[in-house]
Amino acid sequence: MSTTAIINLDLPGSTISRHLYGHFAEHLGRCIYGGFWVGEDSDIPNEGGIRSDVVEALRQLQIPNLRWPGGCFADEYHWRDGIGPRAERPRMVNSHWGDIVENNHFGTHEFMALCELLGTDPYVNGNVGSGTVREMSEWVEYLTRDGQSPMASLRRENGRDKPWRVPFWGIGNEAWGCGGNMSAQAYADLARQYATFCRDHGDNRLYRIAAGGSDDDYAWTRTLMEAISCFGCAEEPRGIFQALSFHYYTIAGTWEDKGGALEFDIDDYYRTMARARRVEELIQRHGAVMDVHDPEKKVGLVLDEWGTWWDVEPGTNPGFLYQQNTLRDALVASVHFDAFHRHADRLVMANIAQTVNVLQAMILTDPDTGALVTTPTYHVFAMNTPHHDSQELSVHLVGDTFSQNVDGTDLDLLSASASTRDDSALISLTNLDAERERTVVLDLRGREVAGHRARVLTAPTLQTHNTPTAPEAVVPRTHDALRPHHRGLEVDLPAHSYVTVSLDLG
Ligand code: AHR
Repeated sequence: MSTTAIINLDLPGSTISRHLYGHFAEHLGRCIYGGFWVGEDSDIPNEGGIRSDVVEALRQLQIPNLRWPGGCFADEYHWRDGIGPRAERPRMVNSHWGDIVENNHFGTHEFMALCELLGTDPYVNGNVGSGTVREMSEWVEYLTRDGQSPMASLRRENGRDKPWRVPFWGIGNEAWGCGGNMSAQAYADLARQYATFCRDHGDNRLYRIAAGGSDDDYAWTRTLMEAISCFGCAEEPRGIFQALSFHYYTIAGTWEDKGGALEFDIDDYYRTMARARRVEELIQRHGAVMDVHDPEKKVGLVLDEWGTWWDVEPGTNPGFLYQQNTLRDALVASVHFDAFHRHADRLVMANIAQTVNVLQAMILTDPDTGALVTTPTYHVFAMNTPHHDSQELSVHLVGDTFSQNVDGTDLDLLSASASTRDDSALISLTNLDAERERTVVLDLRGREVAGHRARVLTAPTLQTHNTPTAPEAVVPRTHDALRPHHRGLEVDLPAHSYVTVSLDLG
């Protein structure tokens, strides 16, 4: 039995915000220090202390926004410790991540310089858990206010005349846990207060994001929706908040025994994929709660932490969350993006955790040699750049969508999504079957297809990963197994592969 993917090329839907391809960089392990930041005196080529090779690699991904400084770290971070001459900056203990001393050498100015080098929008996450309303308010003023004001003057003393543009602002992080162990109601009240004093200075418009629940905590979302919005308030048409978030990580086992990044069997693999695909249910159900209060979808849903979380690599600091990244991680990413595209009407932003050397990273650097490798996940982000700000096209899968029983429920082994912009379209196809190739007919309707080409990301095994000695073990290659068909095209999807088909439309 064959599978057909019906795509109406002339019926575009919601815009897939490029911000669904956002990133996250926390003061955690070797993400900032050794990852992004090596300091101006390093032998590693850098621009003002920021690694040039990391910037160069990430520029290929056109990353739309970067969340910083945490995560859990955000609710311990006091921004004034990270400005002024580096040698004079106070130190602190990063108690969440390894209990190590943080020297604050990477602070506000360094982060904004990084964003400028990357050409990305900053998403600054403020401190609710151990900060004050005044502290957060002044950070916004320091970053975004022009003219004469106490914080604008302080910024100038530190060498920056003009304010920066900061579009995205997080009001705390995981307030139910590391961000303060609060109840939903307690956080909602605090968040309203904090957000009130995060002002729009000049023409900078903050998109304020309330810290949401974890996984399937729909009650948290309901409480926030009841508390944070001001629908119909004439004096505050944008509301106090513009969005709320939630976090969802993919693990193969339990939080106590998450499983290894490299050591896993086929059952672990399918369980991983079943959990990865669950993200769609979570987006839908958080969205359904929001719909009750906000049927016009004015409030955005933000998944500002997602990705795989494995046991740390043997011999590395357990607090540093350093893990390898295989073809399995790439397929976790590709099925997440399919779900994101399908729900682009409500999901406005997502941030993979994290960009360099932590959890499901795009880039791994060697602590001894400094060597850089891009991961299989990096390549999914690269292959998907044409989806950024394109319009979603529904993909209707008919026929055999084949499935695998995982712990009593069926896991669909084929995942697909598509988008169009101007005279082009991109179709994403993931074959999760660990062992069998599948053939899919692309039934392309509504517009003439003038040209086509395909790329494939796969490898001999699911455990295959890139290393400094084999940096191209998992990279996208031209895919020739694409043929004209009377309905459009026919494409073979190798076992455990991610394929993109690009169309030129007439
Ligand atoms: O991404 C690692 C951590 O996971 C973040 O700091 C926290 O928000 C989440 O629990």
